[in-house]
Amino acid sequence: MAYMEWTNDLSVKVTSFDNQHKKLIEMINDFYASVEKGKLKEVVQKLLIEMQKYTKTHFYSEENYMVKYNYPDYAEHKKEHEVFIKKVEELMTKYSEGKMILSFDITKFLKDWLVNHIQGTDKKYSEFMNKNGIS
Ligand code: FEO
Repeated sequence: MAYMEWTNDLSVKVTSFDNQHKKLIEMINDFYASVEKGKLKEVVQKLLIEMQKYTKTHFYSEENYMVKYNYPDYAEHKKEHEVFIKKVEELMTKYSEGKMILSFDITKFLKDWLVNHIQGTDKKYSEFMNKNGIS
């Protein structure tokens, strides 16, 4: 069974964003599986870098629409994205320096953050996006 699963309660009612969230969940699962199998640090790091890149792409997609349609909570939402990117960068640095951090802790952080962000912050834009014809 996968470490994380996308379920309907994670839907933000915008297909392209749901698909991007599904892809992120898939990447977290790949990361988890590679850690579990004891893959080399370089392999784990590569997955983390790919995930970080894709996350930025996803954040940019959401922000792009927010700007285009004057989403009222844009600044607050963007701030959450920025804090997350910074946090992941810190984790990656610590991981590459071998200072810490149990890879499973990284996985748990990614999972918890993504679920909380989708359910608590992303879902707030659903109605707004739908009203602007984005679904
Ligand atoms: Fe789906 Fe705001 O990240």
